[in-house]
Amino acid sequence: MNLLNIKVLLLGTSLLLALNLHAHEPESSNNVQEARLLTQKFGADLKSVLVSAMQTGGPIAALQECNIKAQAITESNAIASGWRVARTSLKVRNTNNAPDAWERKILQQFEEQRSAGNDLSKAEYSEVVNDGDEAVFRYMKPIITAGLCVSCHGSNLNSEVTKKLQVLYPDDKATGFNVGDIRGAYTFQKSLKVSSEN
Ligand code: HEC
Repeated sequence: MNLLNIKVLLLGTSLLLALNLHAHEPESSNNVQEARLLTQKFGADLKSVLVSAMQTGGPIAALQECNIKAQAITESNAIASGWRVARTSLKVRNTNNAPDAWERKILQQFEEQRSAGNDLSKAEYSEVVNDGDEAVFRYMKPIITAGLCVSCHGSNLNSEVTKKLQVLYPDDKATGFNVGDIRGAYTFQKSLKVSSEN
């Protein structure tokens, strides 16, 4: 390995470290672990509805199903976990999923990391932020566009899909994605109770 390769390797590693930076929380903190589990649970719940609807009724039926169930699945994961749970994106389909300023900033950071050529499949970001008097633990993880996604989020949509989207989501911004693009992110938050250490 020559010197240039080593430099490239070091640069890549430091970018990955920057991306995984947990500003106030150690990598192994309970909150990070909980957020990771929640990502898996929430993602699996969404995917099972999507995949079974696609298999039984194709994209039009699946659109209807996601329209009815996505917000309900979000809500049930929030209730079960006690966290605030959502998905967001720089280009949202459902305006309920629009990012706040902090989420927009982190989404932009993920985009920058991707433009720099990083693989974001393991990326995540967490930070403790102050919301008034309250300390809040916040966590985000990118959601990458897969082959399955482009029938409803891609560039060449079937005209029936386009029609249905216009009816269900007249303000839809979530098309034009390619496989590998960042479709959005999971975003979770939880208020941190003040500890009684003296
Ligand atoms: C059958 C069509 C369909 C397919 C296929 C599909 N989605 Fe969606 N997607 C939707 C609909 C409808 C919504 C809006 C749900 C709602 O009302 O909250 C949505 C919303 C989202 C959101 C929330 C942010 C936003 O734009 O409102 C993300 C993130 C997302 N989809 C990612 C994906 C990914 C990743 C895949 C592939 C694994 C995928 N979708 C496949 C229809 C689809």
